[in-house]
Amino acid sequence: MENFTLYTPTKVVFGKDREQELGALLKEEKCSKILIHYGSGSIIRSGLLARIEAVLTKEGFDYVKLGGAVPNPRLSLVYEGIELCKKEGVDFILAIGGGSAIDSSKAIAYGAANEGDVWDFYTGKRAPKACLPLGVILTIAATGSETGKSSVITKDEGMIKIGYNNNLSRPKFAIMNPELTYTLPPYQTASGCVDIMMHTMERYFNQSDNMELTDAFSEALIRTVMKHAKILMEKPHCYESRAEVMWAGSLSHNDLMGCGTDGGDWACHKLEHELGGLYDVAHGAGLAAIWATWARYVYENRVERFEQFATNVMGVTGDSPKDTALKGIAALEDYFKSIKMPVSITELVGHAPSDEDIEIMAEKCRIVSNNSAGVIKKLNKDDFIKIYKLAL
Ligand code: NZQ
Ligand code: ZN
Repeated sequence: MENFTLYTPTKVVFGKDREQELGALLKEEKCSKILIHYGSGSIIRSGLLARIEAVLTKEGFDYVKLGGAVPNPRLSLVYEGIELCKKEGVDFILAIGGGSAIDSSKAIAYGAANEGDVWDFYTGKRAPKACLPLGVILTIAATGSETGKSSVITKDEGMIKIGYNNNLSRPKFAIMNPELTYTLPPYQTASGCVDIMMHTMERYFNQSDNMELTDAFSEALIRTVMKHAKILMEKPHCYESRAEVMWAGSLSHNDLMGCGTDGGDWACHKLEHELGGLYDVAHGAGLAAIWATWARYVYENRVERFEQFATNVMGVTGDSPKDTALKGIAALEDYFKSIKMPVSITELVGHAPSDEDIEIMAEKCRIVSNNSAGVIKKLNKDDFIKIYKLAL
């Protein structure tokens, strides 16, 4: 087992009606002016925003609002949010929504608390010294951004999508009421569940040994999400299933599933971020479209890990370790199909990307990953091109 530090300071406030406790949570933060930041309107249609505004007004909090964070949230809106925070003297950000609203809030929080261009933090030019505190009301189980240190922002010009990790941005609290996810369309529910599975799988496919407990947690988490995603395709209002996947979303990406490992592979996320950047697709669906191709491309470098996955997660065995590994990959691919997730890029995007588009994605992936991605097999630009083509 490798050395590790686990830092998860976010207060999780989980269960039915817990958003009613927002006032008390904000009082603990001693904030005087709040920015409510959200997406394209689902919280207006569901009535959640009105309910939250009623709580803030009743408790005497001063606030401003900024909507418009889209999936693959844009830098241009982040700049707008930073200006608003500075003008209004905002000292706390409340993100209501999913990964996009939360990540956009984190970027605004860095920008409002530091001088200069916030994009510098994403390109690695310099590091932030501070970050405005933020809290979250989660409406989709997916990214784990509600307790995590990551945020992923897309620069409008060139659709350059880059993730940045810093503990400064971990939310102070995350209100997680599974009932708030009942209104999700099935595609978003499934896409979120794939993302949750993949945050654990990216860590699980590593080059480390002797992580019995972390492996057991990871395998249980993936199996649990698979079971409940399936139920939610039939029964979107099943509270128990919504609750299981929501809790899994946070645990999958708060670093617990990586304890004792080398950090994991993450090549699928790097490859997917370019698909999201170029075609603006749902992140989890993009991961489903690429995973099996990646797995078949790299599995021979770590057959025993893929064999363990096949046996302990997918419940399949074959005639040899390689056969078992391949059967496990095929079984997960079949599972993705069963929850109506795409298993090829053509299916994901609606057409086969041109050679020129593949070159653009591979080059952007090379730059963002500093020439090489993955630990199961170190992949370079040629490999990125081959995987995109094999995944067509
Ligand atoms: O914008 P609104 O109107 O709210 O609609 C959203 C959006 O269209 C809708 N939605 C959310 N909650 C809903 C709802 N619709 C009905 N009822 C509800 N309760 O769902 C759509 C997707 O929302 P979004 O926030 O984009 O989804 P997700 O949480 O999957 O976030 C995706 C973004 O996060 C990034 C992705 O790349 C992508 O940009 N990621 C962030 C990570 C992180 N911060 O750690 C890690 C991930 O690997 C990922 O890269
Ligand atoms: Zn993800």
